[in-house]
This record gives sequence, structure tokens and C-alpha cells, in this order.
Amino acid sequence: MRILIVGNGGREHTLAWKLLRDAPEATVFATQPNGGMTSSVEPVAIAPGDVVALAGWAAAQSIDLVVVGPEAPLAAGLVDRLEQSGIPAFGPTKAAARIESSKSYAKTLMQRAGVPTADFAAFTDLGEASAYVREHGAPIVVKASGLAAGKGAVVCDTVEEALQALESMMADRTFGEAGREVVVEEFMGGEEMSVFALADGRDAVLMLPSQDHKRVGEGDVGPNTGGMGAYAPLSLSSDALLSRVQDEIIAPTLAALAEDDSEFRGVLYAGIMLTESGPRVVEFNCRFGDPEAQVVLPLLESSLLDPLLEVARGGRLGGTTLEWSEGAALTTVLASEGYPGTYPTGRAIHIPESVATDPDVLLFHAGTTSGSDGLETSGGRVIAATGLGPTLSQAASKSRAAAAAIEFSGKQFRKDIGWRELARAERAPR
Ligand code: AMP
Ligand code: GLY
Repeated sequence: MRILIVGNGGREHTLAWKLLRDAPEATVFATQPNGGMTSSVEPVAIAPGDVVALAGWAAAQSIDLVVVGPEAPLAAGLVDRLEQSGIPAFGPTKAAARIESSKSYAKTLMQRAGVPTADFAAFTDLGEASAYVREHGAPIVVKASGLAAGKGAVVCDTVEEALQALESMMADRTFGEAGREVVVEEFMGGEEMSVFALADGRDAVLMLPSQDHKRVGEGDVGPNTGGMGAYAPLSLSSDALLSRVQDEIIAPTLAALAEDDSEFRGVLYAGIMLTESGPRVVEFNCRFGDPEAQVVLPLLESSLLDPLLEVARGGRLGGTTLEWSEGAALTTVLASEGYPGTYPTGRAIHIPESVATDPDVLLFHAGTTSGSDGLETSGGRVIAATGLGPTLSQAASKSRAAAAAIEFSGKQFRKDIGWRELARAERAPR
């Protein structure tokens, strides 16, 4: 089995780790692999975004399965090209990836399909968007419609802040073309949950829900990031809740995409707000979450490769069940100073032997590279330190100890990942 993983961040390192557990004899290739991946994968010197070169390479190399990690190559049509070349690829086509690449498309589709989500309006005119904000008042949420690396949503507590966010996206183009169109939406209160649905175009199998921590600061304050940490499982979730997510959110969304001739095959990631009136969609993504993959995949005891291959070959998932560990996982992201703003690179990283060899710690690299003097930082999010344990509290201790022990200058990380769940566990009757 020859597998190509497209992407080189923490999620892709986790995918490589899991697929190699499922198929130790497989050869896994990855595009420009990070410093943590190089020991287990074969490097491919093509950028994850170069879809033409990648499709050509995969065809020439007789690849059996391509797994696309990030949204950008999906939105650029990598899977369409691979399909044309007859290469099985796991991930949606360009048309289906619009569920993430265009928030205005996603919101309109949800409205049409009756999927519960925040009320919204989409604008390309700054004056009209500003008038809408003034009319609706705060709190209100302003989002760039296009792809903005998880940083394009601003939750605004005041009208002034919302007007500024509009100005920065639409006039100053802080997110470039992604801000040509903006979505302004109702603020939803509640706790968030990420659900990955493995979708075969019509049906889906839900994976274990997890919770991300998008704000940079402890206590969930400060600007949004790509994700500073995550944990699973989530006691707020239940079989009844997941049935509602399946029936009210995932199934109608897949049906609406199919009606648009955009059958969705891949991971439909639903970011869900657990509100008083039930689960409502915050956003859809067209791929695994990062850093959620770093906790969900280590808890998956059954094969990931089998369902991915089935979907990539155009098969159906009917009857597929996934088996989950009884334990918990929690990951802490070590980031470079300055992230999510500008940050330095090239800082030497030291990983103590005791951390590297701890069976309850998994280090998934993101922005690292193997320089001539050893491992160095090369990105904003550097390493996700996943701790495993029979309880979340034990998993948290493992993750936090690893995060504290790994060294590089300017390291920042949150010591409170999982705080809501840990507080719930404390309150629960013993
Ligand atoms: P998004 O990029 O759409 O996932 O938004 C990033 C983060 O902003 C989400 O994870 C939420 O924490 C927050 N957010 C987005 N939309 C809303 C909303 N309508 N109400 C409340 N919070 C939101
Ligand atoms: N963790 C959020 C995302 O992957 O978009």
C-alpha cells in the first residue's frame, strides 16, 4: 500500500501516525514533511498547494490512496484532478469543499436545508454591512467568507468593534481576497463541540466529539488562532445529542450538497454550538480539525485506513462502526511567541528523552524542521503534546508536563486546556 498524505502540519503528522499503525507495512509519503514526520514518511518535494504537480506525481508513483489534510488544496481542486487520473483520494471535490471555502455558500445551503445555525446576512459592500451591524447591535460576529486559516471570525462585543472588523476585512483586506465578501451573523452563546463525520457522499459515520480551544489566552481570551489545544471525549455529548447532530445537521447537509451536484466524500467537520435550543452549526470545515485530530485519532482503536480507502474508492460506509478507547486524550499546542500574529522561526527545540519515550505522550509536530543543528521551529504552532490516560485529568497532567518540559526560546502554551470539562468532573458526584 502506497499512501500520500498532502499537508505537513500537526493534523497530517497525526494522520501519518494513525495510518502507519493501521498498516505498518505501508509506505507513507508526505509533502514537505515537518521535522517530526521525516523519520516515518518518505518526503515529496512538492508544496501541498501545488495541485497540478501533486496529481502528476501521484499518478506516476501509482499511489493507492491520497489523503488530503488541509482545506487549501481541496478548495483548489486537488481531488478533482486526482479523480480524473483515477487515483483514489480521500477528501471532497472543489465544489463540495465550498462548504468551508465559502461561508456565504455554507450559510445559504444550511438555510435552504433547514440546518440550525446563526441568522446571518452576506455582504460585498462595506456600507451595507455596516448598516446591518448598526441595525442589529452587539454582540455580533463578523467573518471573512473565504479561507483565513481559522482566524477570519471576529466575535464582537460592541458595534464599534464590529465596524472596525468590517473595515479591516473589506477595506484593508487583512485576509486578502477572503474578505471580499463577509458574513455577519447572530452571536450564539453556549459551549462548542467539534464533530467529524466520515462521509461517503450520502451517509456518514460520526467520530468521537472533541473540544478545541481557539483563543490564544488562558480562560479563552484574546484573538482566535488555528487552535491552542483540544481534548476528547466530551461529557456534554451523549448518544441522544449525536443522533440529533446526525439527523438535524449532517444528513440534511449531505443531502443538500448532493442536490447541488456536489456529493461530499471526506470528513465533514461540524463546529457546533450547544445552545439552549439544541445543537446549532457555527461553521463547517471540509477536513479533519487541527488540533482536534491530535486527540480524536489516538483514541480510535479500529482502523481509520479502511473507511478512508472505502470512501476514496467510491464505496459506501453503510454498516461501518468505529471503536473507541475508554480513555481520554488532551493536547496542548506549543506555539511561537507572537502567534497568532507574526512570529520568529529557526529557534532550536529541545525535547527531553523522558518526554520522547513516555508511552502516554504523543508529540505531533506542526511547525518544526530538521536543521543541520537539529530540530528547529518553523511555524506559529510548533508541536502538539498529546497526553493519554484513563481519565481526562490524567491525560491533562501528561500533556501539561510534556508541554512544560519541551524547550525553545519564546515558547507559549496554555496550561488550562480542558478547563471546562475538568471543572465539570470536579462538580460531578463521585
Ligand atoms: P469560525 O472560524 O467560524 O469557526 O469561528 C471561529 C470561532 O469564533 C468559533 O469557534 C467560535 O468560538 C466563534 N464564533 C463563530 N461564530 C460564532 C457565533 N455565531 N456565535 C458565537 N461564537 C461564534
Ligand atoms: N481546530 C479548528 C480547525 O481545524 O479549523
